[in-house]
Amino acid sequence: MTTLFRATNPRSITVFVVIVTILCGLFILRQGQYLSSKTNNSTVRPRTLAVIMPVNNNTDMSFYKNMWVADHLYTVCDFRGPNCAMSCNERSTWKTLHKKTKCFTQKIKERLTNTEFFIKMDDDTFVDREYIHNLIDKYTGFTEPVYISDFILNLDGQNRNLNGSYYGNGKFYMFNRRLLDCIDPTIKYKGDRNEDAIFGAMVFNGCGPDVLKIGEDDSKIWHKRYSNKNKYIDLSAISNY
Ligand SMILES: *[C@@H]1O[C@H](CO)[C@@H](O)[C@H](O)[C@H]1NC(C)=O
Ligand SMILES: *[C@@H]1O[C@H](CO)[C@@H](O)[C@H](O)[C@H]1NC(C)=O
Ligand SMILES: *[C@@H]1O[C@H](CO)[C@@H](O)[C@H](O)[C@H]1NC(C)=O
Ligand SMILES: *[C@@H]1O[C@H](CO)[C@@H](O)[C@H](O)[C@H]1NC(C)=O
Repeated sequence: MTTLFRATNPRSITVFVVIVTILCGLFILRQGQYLSSKTNNSTVRPRTLAVIMPVNNNTDMSFYKNMWVADHLYTVCDFRGPNCAMSCNERSTWKTLHKKTKCFTQKIKERLTNTEFFIKMDDDTFVDREYIHNLIDKYTGFTEPVYISDFILNLDGQNRNLNGSYYGNGKFYMFNRRLLDCIDPTIKYKGDRNEDAIFGAMVFNGCGPDVLKIGEDDSKIWHKRYSNKNKYIDLSAISNY
């Protein structure tokens, strides 16, 4: 009786209507936010990254197909096959890996024009997913070429265009679209060279000195073996090339 009486009191009705209106408004706003973040993140995120992985016929693809990188993976094979996003350097040996690097660089530069970030990793590397998402969040929208790795100075007495450039270790390097836009995959040099040094030289020759070189966090990248708490995984149990 008292509740009914209060509810029919005009002031109570006004307060009630105001509260309901506010609650409905908040609900609609939240749904809108939820939907827009959902469309944005779930559709754009996967296309923001491509993971380039040179593989050979000794690579166990089932391992990487079950890792988080699977959604972004572009394998570079030295043969043609169902698991190959691209095929490069078909008469490959470890000595000619630099040709494979020039080849995939040219191909991704031409083909993956809608991709913002790229990771090149080896088939014995394991990378922390959250670390990569944080890097993507941090460097999205940068107008400079961004190159994330560890950096080694290349001294090459024979090739002037390679000498004095810095390159990242091939187990892992990450770069943005801006870097791919200026990189020069047509550089010429004498002799067989380390493939990662060639990548660095292509950056050096094409993009000049204004490349943002960011040091990688090696506590988030595992090479050849993964070990953490009660896990130990040998990532390169069988020698490759
Ligand atoms: C995605 O987010 C941006 C802001 O980051 C916004 O301008 C854009 O309208 C959003 N797109 C969709 C489809 O929600
Ligand atoms: C996307 O996800 C991030 C967290 O990962 C969140 O902060 C953001 O609000 C989401 N929406 C948009 C539009 O970026
Ligand atoms: C794998 O590749 C190596 C080097 O190209 C070649 O010698 C070998 O015959 C190949 N093995 C198989 C099973 O295709
Ligand atoms: C290569 O670069 C180093 C350091 O930048 C320099 O000292 C050396 O003279 C260069 N070598 C040649 C052959 O140009």
